[in-house]
Amino acid sequence: MATWQVRNEKQHPLSVVLKAMKNTRSRLGLFYVLLAFTALSLTLLELLPPMLLKRILDVNLKNGQIEQVWIAAFYYLAASMGSSIFAFAQTYLTTYIGQNILIDLRLLMAEHIAKLPMNYYNRTPVGEIMSYMSSDVDSVNTLFSSGLISGFTDMMKVFGIAMAMYVISPRLCFITLLSIPVLLIVANYFRKNILKAQMEIRKAVGKINTYLQELFNGIRIVKFYAKEDEYEKKFQTPLREHLKSIDHAAVFDSYFPCVMQTIKAIVIAAIVLLGAKTSDYDGTTVTIGSLAAFADLVSRLLSPVEALSQEFQTIQQAMAGLRRIVGFLGEEVEEKGKIQRLDNKFFVSEQGVSVTIRDISFGYAPDKLILKDVSLDIHEGKKVAIVGRTGAGKTSLMNLIAGLYKPHAGAISISGIDPYRLHATDRRKLIGIVPQSTHIFEGTLRENITLRDDRITQEEVEKAAKLVGLQDFIAALPDGYDTVIGVQGIKLSFGQSQLLSLARAVVCDPPVLLLDEPTSGMDALTEKVIFDAFRAIGNKRTIITISHRLSGVIDADEVYIMAAGKIVQSGSPDKLAGEKGWYSVFKQLEDLGWRLDV
Ligand SMILES: Nc1ncnc2c1ncn2[C@@H]1O[C@H](COP(=O)(O)OP(=O)(O)O)[C@@H](O)[C@H]1O
Ligand SMILES: [Mg+2]
Repeated sequence: MATWQVRNEKQHPLSVVLKAMKNTRSRLGLFYVLLAFTALSLTLLELLPPMLLKRILDVNLKNGQIEQVWIAAFYYLAASMGSSIFAFAQTYLTTYIGQNILIDLRLLMAEHIAKLPMNYYNRTPVGEIMSYMSSDVDSVNTLFSSGLISGFTDMMKVFGIAMAMYVISPRLCFITLLSIPVLLIVANYFRKNILKAQMEIRKAVGKINTYLQELFNGIRIVKFYAKEDEYEKKFQTPLREHLKSIDHAAVFDSYFPCVMQTIKAIVIAAIVLLGAKTSDYDGTTVTIGSLAAFADLVSRLLSPVEALSQEFQTIQQAMAGLRRIVGFLGEEVEEKGKIQRLDNKFFVSEQGVSVTIRDISFGYAPDKLILKDVSLDIHEGKKVAIVGRTGAGKTSLMNLIAGLYKPHAGAISISGIDPYRLHATDRRKLIGIVPQSTHIFEGTLRENITLRDDRITQEEVEKAAKLVGLQDFIAALPDGYDTVIGVQGIKLSFGQSQLLSLARAVVCDPPVLLLDEPTSGMDALTEKVIFDAFRAIGNKRTIITISHRLSGVIDADEVYIMAAGKIVQSGSPDKLAGEKGWYSVFKQLEDLGWRLDV
């Protein structure tokens, strides 16, 4: 659906909106036509009543055509009702079109989020991305609902009213138009101040909330030390600030309509005076009817002009949001090269798959290398441990094997597949990953295992749960696999979360498993449960375990010792134990009861 691409940040924000309108033309074409029709009708209906008034006064009443007055009165009523109906249609159409364009925009942003490299997320705070998706998108919504389209209609109204005025009397029209800049300046002045006062109110409310939050978070201390009175006194400051800002806003709010009314009255008075004085002067006779129609038109001019000042402000605010969205959409996406699929040609032997890592270098920032010339040769179905101190680069290496980042140099191959270029939907079938810390999503146990992948069957979920030894725990729950976990639901212990993470990793039966510090911070008993689970799933799988201590290594065929982004020693545990070097130092320290991470 969303096919509009943003090429660079410098492009004008409105071009995105125009493109969106163009893209939705086939779907919403009829709605655009209807909208244009309602805008035109609204303008014309706005002009009808004053013109009828002129006719009633100048023609019908003058000539005593009472019947005609009735008919004119009927038209007058019909025009007012028609205006309401078209105003309703306009609001509805604007909202409908706006929401449809928003869907496109949101989809486009979601698509973009999926394409952005992990690096983008490393350097962008989560809150910022959230505000692109929520408040900035909302501001684009206001751009439609109360900015661009209504602004266009109001402009048409002003133009139509000015035309009608011109037809009645060019001179009076000119004088009235002079008042428009005054109206705009005054309206702008008030809008700005009202907005400022509203910001002050928001700030004051924020202060009150912060105060209350602090109070209730520390309520035990407050009570214990009997500090209630002090807090009550302190509470008065934000409350007074709040009152003051509301007062401020109220003054502007109530003055605004009065000032506008006064300006309107001045313009009407001036028109009546000048009209009476200059009748016959510029060729068109200013009759009583014309004057009455003119006064009516002046009143009608006021609201679209006022609305225009509001719309102008809305558009300005929305443009700031839109600009941020365009900037976000302009963020460079990942160029992966040719995407690889796990097709029938992909072969898993009896023993599993091999993982070859050849001379890779990598860093999060271009000038700082975290991994330097790392090479690993892992044969089919082998269990490998990577051991090193915290900060050595183990997790980074694992992220590369998992295909989350692209190495600066070198290559990774899992039986011929480059994990970075592997199609996203195939990744779980090749690689299972248990990250250093498990994230539990709001949802059921099943959803947390499948990650809402509908292709995974209930049998597969149960098989995975059984494999990691969670089935008894789940079976004992009243809702079984439908039990909700997370903030809203039941809480899992650390060990259970880790087992769940493991079930999530093995549910697609991948031949490669990556485990990042799976037992760190666990007591010996829980660690044993996890180790047993690993042994159960280890069969015919290539497993790479990361640990910062040797005791976290499970049955490794091969151990790689990593320090400062380099592999400094490698071999079977027996071989390493016999060598002088990192491994024996690690072992000695651990035997002494040292923990290198403390
Ligand atoms: N997302 C990241 N952005 C920037 N630097 C990172 C990021 N993750 C890790 N690093 C840095 O990379 C180095 C290695 O980290 P990591 O691979 O997590 O080590 P380990 O897992 O061995 O403790 C550290 O110096 C760390 O500060
Ligand atoms: Mg780590």
